[in-house]
Amino acid sequence: MCGVVGYTGRNQAVDWLLDGLATLEYRGYDSAGVQVVSSSGNLHGVKCAGRVATLRERAAVANLNGTCGIGHTRWATHGAPTDRNAHPHLDGTGRIAVVHNGIIENYQELRRELMAAGHEFLSETDTEVIPHLIQEAWNGPAKGDLARAVRYACDRLEGAWALAVVCSEVPGQMVVTRNGSPLVVTSTEDGAYAASDVMPLASVATQVTQLEDNDIATLSPDGSIQIVDRNGAPVANPATLTIDWDASAARLGGYSDFMAKEISEQPEAIERLLKDRLGEHGIELDELSLTKAELAAVDRIVIIACGTSYHVGLIAKAAIERWARIPVAVEFASEFNYDENYLVTDHTMCVVITQSGETADTLTAARRMRGMGCTVFAITNVLGSTAARESDGTLYIQAGPEVAVASTKAYTAQIVASFLLALRLGLANGTLAREEVERHFADLERIPDLMREVLARRWQDKQAARLFQGKHSSLFLGRNVNSTTAYEGALKLKEISYLHAEAYPAGEMKHGPIALIEGGFPVVAIVPADHVHDKTVSNIEECLARGAVVIGVATDGDEKVAKLCSQVLWVPQCPDELVVPVVAILHLQMLARYVSRDRGYDVDKPRNLAKSVTVE
Ligand code: M6R
Repeated sequence: MCGVVGYTGRNQAVDWLLDGLATLEYRGYDSAGVQVVSSSGNLHGVKCAGRVATLRERAAVANLNGTCGIGHTRWATHGAPTDRNAHPHLDGTGRIAVVHNGIIENYQELRRELMAAGHEFLSETDTEVIPHLIQEAWNGPAKGDLARAVRYACDRLEGAWALAVVCSEVPGQMVVTRNGSPLVVTSTEDGAYAASDVMPLASVATQVTQLEDNDIATLSPDGSIQIVDRNGAPVANPATLTIDWDASAARLGGYSDFMAKEISEQPEAIERLLKDRLGEHGIELDELSLTKAELAAVDRIVIIACGTSYHVGLIAKAAIERWARIPVAVEFASEFNYDENYLVTDHTMCVVITQSGETADTLTAARRMRGMGCTVFAITNVLGSTAARESDGTLYIQAGPEVAVASTKAYTAQIVASFLLALRLGLANGTLAREEVERHFADLERIPDLMREVLARRWQDKQAARLFQGKHSSLFLGRNVNSTTAYEGALKLKEISYLHAEAYPAGEMKHGPIALIEGGFPVVAIVPADHVHDKTVSNIEECLARGAVVIGVATDGDEKVAKLCSQVLWVPQCPDELVVPVVAILHLQMLARYVSRDRGYDVDKPRNLAKSVTVE
């Protein structure tokens, strides 16, 4: 969950390290640190609890001088977010500095062993064993060779890691390696760079190299990068990635926060995703890497995801079952991974949905499905992410970098991507005729403009946010596909406003959650003009009878709902019931953002969370 950066070259390192960390902060933001090596071979660093902005202030005072350095932004796993537990961590001699993303599972055993050999530890982290192991190897079998010392240390580790290491004995040299946690490097005229993902590198390069597990790369100030594999053999053709977005895409560009920016980018994201997808052969989805006959043979689909992406899965299920008539199961990755009796057929297809492509539980589940013989198809946003690399086919949603921890544009783009998959499957197995596919596709093409209309009505969300003032709990209700809209709306609210929000299928409310309702209790009811409209209206009446304040999400012109609700978030008429959740959710994203801002919170970096959940 942490972010790692490294630079060696002809410029002062600290400026880029701090800028790089700022772009990686979405991975974790409870503490941060940098360490640079001066040309005369001195290590200088600062680290502190808090955000990169605080680190920047400290670094300015410390006047860190050096053209080679490493940096880290942390999401605490072992040890509280304190100055002492912040990375980088040093060896016992103060010559070797390490930043780490991942978890060292056998750190307690290693720590005991190192302590018995006289090593002293200053932090409670799992990471700190690594510089001490490197120190042991440096003085022993590696004989002053940093890359070899890192190899020796890694051979003792169990768990996951992306590491960047510098040593005052070899100023200018930086060694990086990975196992299970992502790491990319790039070479430029100004020097060589390393980072947990492409975000910080977009400002310096358009092409990056992806390290494979156990590759060790040695980066030098002239920009050269030597990569060797686990056996020490040079890696001749490492995988490269072209960054297809401008660095400005990851900047605020006039918005007050990334969540506002990303909410407003949804219409264009959907347009990009749909562009050129309807072709001569129906839905063009070459990424699937399955023949038409293989697609037609699919008899079961298992969708695996976490959080917001899991909610995408629930809507994908509705679309696939309706348009392709294939039974779909949607699983939380964290639950699936411990279900020992999971059943698949010979023609089960697995779809993993993950914005980041790095969610540990989802990756474990995908590997398990492959092990069970299933074809694994990934829907993701991040180019070259682990999910993409390990899957049989990948559909990139092309939503551009999503920085705010609360997922918004990836949610709607992933739903539309799953609609494309559903149409492709329906066409392949003969459930849908070409004309039907064209009609559904035309409905999808209307989504961007429908979204624009909702965005223009954000004042309604601002007004509705006032109804949450002084409240501690709320209920979100919806039926059919919009029970998922309720789940996602409630998740957004919980995540960034720290207000309890219970989401339920509206018809289930009377089986328990209705007991929550008392005078003034806020209920958000998603009640569009669909085949369950009147049933949901009855549930609204039940809430009102018990004193609830109801905020409705309804279709333009619905006077019945207007009369019942304290505030209506109006949605334009949608061409298909499956389109409604993609459009209506924009109101709930904006509502959550306004509630969070009214409470004075940082909407982009909610407490306790990180965007990329790379630990189980
Ligand atoms: O990157 P992923 O889509 O795999 O992430 C899964 C969840 O961690 C993520 O959707 C999380 O629930 C979001 N922060 C919700 O806004």
